[in-house]
Amino acid sequence: MSSNISCSCSQQTNFNLVQVNGAWTRQSESDHLTEGKSSDAKIYENWSEHGLSWTVVSPIVFTYRVIQCRNLLHPQNETLLWGHLGNGQPKGCVGNSKPVRRFVVIDETVDQLYGSRVTHYFESRNVVFKILPLPTNEENKSMTLVTRILEEVHQFGVDRRSEPIIAIGGGVCLDVVGLAASLYRRRTPYIRVPTTLLSYVDASVGAKTGVNFAGGKNKLGSYVPPVATFLDCSFFQTIPQRQISNGMAEMLKMALVKHRGLFELLEAEGRNLLENKLQPQNVSQHEDGATAAVRISIETMLEELVPNLWEDDLDRLVDFGHLVSPELEMRVLPALLHGEAVNIDMSFMVYVAHHMGLLTAEDRGRIIQCMLGLNLPVWHRECTLALVQKSLRERLKHSAGSLRMPLPTGLGRAEIFHDMIEDNLLFQAHQRWTDDLSSFVNNKTS
Ligand SMILES: NC(=O)c1ccc[n+]([C@@H]2O[C@H](COP(=O)([O-])OP(=O)(O)OC[C@H]3O[C@@H](n4cnc5c(N)ncnc54)[C@H](O)[C@@H]3O)[C@@H](O)[C@H]2O)c1
Repeated sequence: MSSNISCSCSQQTNFNLVQVNGAWTRQSESDHLTEGKSSDAKIYENWSEHGLSWTVVSPIVFTYRVIQCRNLLHPQNETLLWGHLGNGQPKGCVGNSKPVRRFVVIDETVDQLYGSRVTHYFESRNVVFKILPLPTNEENKSMTLVTRILEEVHQFGVDRRSEPIIAIGGGVCLDVVGLAASLYRRRTPYIRVPTTLLSYVDASVGAKTGVNFAGGKNKLGSYVPPVATFLDCSFFQTIPQRQISNGMAEMLKMALVKHRGLFELLEAEGRNLLENKLQPQNVSQHEDGATAAVRISIETMLEELVPNLWEDDLDRLVDFGHLVSPELEMRVLPALLHGEAVNIDMSFMVYVAHHMGLLTAEDRGRIIQCMLGLNLPVWHRECTLALVQKSLRERLKHSAGSLRMPLPTGLGRAEIFHDMIEDNLLFQAHQRWTDDLSSFVNNKTS
C-alpha cells in the first residue's frame, strides 16, 4: 500500500507509529520520520463518501523456548525455574529481596510419582510455591477444571510479568493449564512440562490450548504458546507401554507426512524403542535411535507449526490422522487414547490413498506393519463408513469450502487434497480396510 492514495471517491493515508517522549504518534509514510522508537504496526486511514475508517495492522510476535534436558527436577538444574528466560535476561531486579514464587498445576498421577521431587526442588531453592494436583484426564477436560485452576491462581496471586504458571503432566494437563493461563488477566505466561510421550512430541511444542465442550473435542481454546517447554524424557519411564505406543502414533504421523528416515527408523527399531520406553541408550558417540526419533519428531513438528501458529493456513500436513479421529475418540471415550484414535484414522487414510492410486500396495503394507509393530490399533468397529462420511462433511463445513485432506503420496511424503472423495471410493476403501484389518482388533480397542 502506498501513502496518500486518492481517487474521486476515497483518500487513504498510511501511517507509521513512532514513540516520542513516551507518546506514540502517527507519522504519514510520506513525512520525514521523527527520531524515536518505531513500531511495526501501521494505521491505514481512509476517507470515503461513507466517512472515515482506520485499518490497523499490528504484528504480534511470540517467542518461546523448547528445551530438551536431563534431570529437570534435580535441585541443581536451574531450567525449571529460569529456563524460560533468554540469555542475558535478568532473573529479577538487582537487589530485589522479593522471594521467587511459582504456581504449579500437576496431573494427580504425576503428583503421586514425582510430587515429592517437585516439592523438594522448590524447597531447596527457597521458592514460595503452591502445587495443585488435579485429575487431568480426557473425561474431565472441561471449563470446570479451568475455573478451578483460575480460582486457586487468583488466591495464590501471580505476578504476570515474572511468575509463569507451571503445568506438569500429559496433554490434558498442558491444554487445560494453557487455557487457564491465557484467560487469567488476559494472558499470563505459562510453562509446559510434558510427562507423556504424546504430550512431549505434540501438545507441548505448539500454541494450542483447549478443553472439550458441548460433546466436541477441544471446542473451546486459544492459540497462546507457553513461554517455554521443558522436555525431559526420563518421565516416560513411569508411563505404561500403551501410553508409549500412543505417543509413537504422533511420531509416526510426522514420519509418514514428511520424513522417510524417521519412518524407516520406526519400521526397523520401533518395537525396541517401545520396549525401552524411548530411553537414550548412550552406548556410543553416535546419536542412538531413541534420541534421533524424538529429536526428528520435535524438529519436524516445529517446522510445520511455527510458520502457522494460529492455523490461519488451513492446509496443514499435521492434520493427517485428525479428520475422523476426533469424532471417533469422543464417541468411544474413554476406550481409545488420542494417539490410538489418530492411528486408526491414519490406517484408514492409507487405504484411501492406495485406492486413489497415491500409494503402492507395498508401501501401504509397510505402513500397516509398522503400526502393528508399535502395538497400535489399525481398525475399530466404531470407525464406520457413516462416521467417516460425517467427519469429512464436518471438515468441509469448517475448512472454507474445501476438504483440505492430507494423504500420503509415498513413504515420508504427503499432499493436501481439496476435493471431496467420491462415496464409491470411500466405500471400497472402507470395505477393503475392514476385510484386511478387522481381525487385528485386540481387547483394548474393541
Ligand atoms: N495442544 C495441542 O497441540 C495438542 C496436541 C496433541 C494432543 N493434545 C491433547 O493431549 C491430550 C492427550 O494427551 P496425553 O496422551 O498425554 O493424555 P493425558 O494427559 O490424559 O495423560 C495420559 C495419562 O497418563 C498419566 N501420566 C502422565 N504422565 C505420566 C507419567 N510420567 N507416569 C505415569 N503416568 C503418567 C496421566 O495421569 C493420564 O492418566 C488430548 O486431550 C489431546 O487433545 C493437544
